[in-house]
Amino acid sequence: MSEQPIGVFDSGLGGLTAVKQLRAIMPHENIVYFGDTGRVPYGNRSTATISRYAKQDARFLLSHDVKMVIAACGTVSSTVLDLGECLPVPYINVILPTAAAAVEATKNGRIGVIGTRATIGSCSYKKEIEKLDSSIQVFQRECPLFVPIVEEGFISPDDPIAKLTVERYLKELKDQQVDTLILGCTHYPILKPVIGEYVGMDVKLIDSGKETAIYASKLLKEKGLLNDSVSEGDCGFYVSDRTEDFTNTASIFLNSNIGENVERVDIWNY
Ligand code: DGL
Repeated sequence: MSEQPIGVFDSGLGGLTAVKQLRAIMPHENIVYFGDTGRVPYGNRSTATISRYAKQDARFLLSHDVKMVIAACGTVSSTVLDLGECLPVPYINVILPTAAAAVEATKNGRIGVIGTRATIGSCSYKKEIEKLDSSIQVFQRECPLFVPIVEEGFISPDDPIAKLTVERYLKELKDQQVDTLILGCTHYPILKPVIGEYVGMDVKLIDSGKETAIYASKLLKEKGLLNDSVSEGDCGFYVSDRTEDFTNTASIFLNSNIGENVERVDIWNY
């Protein structure tokens, strides 16, 4: 049994949606979170740049003696395919657990996937779903404006900008009658109320953070790495720029105040 923390990273704030789920599922685990707020967004960058950043992010987490590294970022998970090979601890990303949950959920065999430009361009979810069940049809759509909309806080179900953008991006998927929709980017679960209202209650929304947290807990259990402490785990937050912005927006993602518990890191040193 291990008290070492679980390391989670994302290009910015969005990975906190995964942290929220990890804390709900494994409240005794310690967590170290790194959000690359100085270099976000990753979603429109080249694979070479995303790979370089992701490896620095993982090395930073390893410097905190983490027992597992989780890439909560859909973009990193989709484009940096050799990350696990470079690490001395178990590594998981969001693709497999999320794709598996969608395959499990669909009844009509029509799954929609939304994500950043890099994620959709890589066809990562589509390939994983087709590996799991080749009879399933996958419909993809990149939604590059969703991330800035969330960062600006335009997230209420009544927000006209959020509603209009959701309608513009998701109309085709709705017309294609998908019954399951993968929210393939860390930020998208924040838009769940707006997305859910538009696509309708019959469409199951799959949250990559949640599915990855469930998968992480199974893997830690299998490897005998769960923390058996009875006290609540600690969470350390690190960012590469502007801790004050992080503290404010993190409360939206986590539904709780993280106070002063955020440190700035010079990520180029890793
Ligand atoms: N974290 C990214 C993802 O999940 C979204 C933000 C970005 O483009 O960096 O794909």
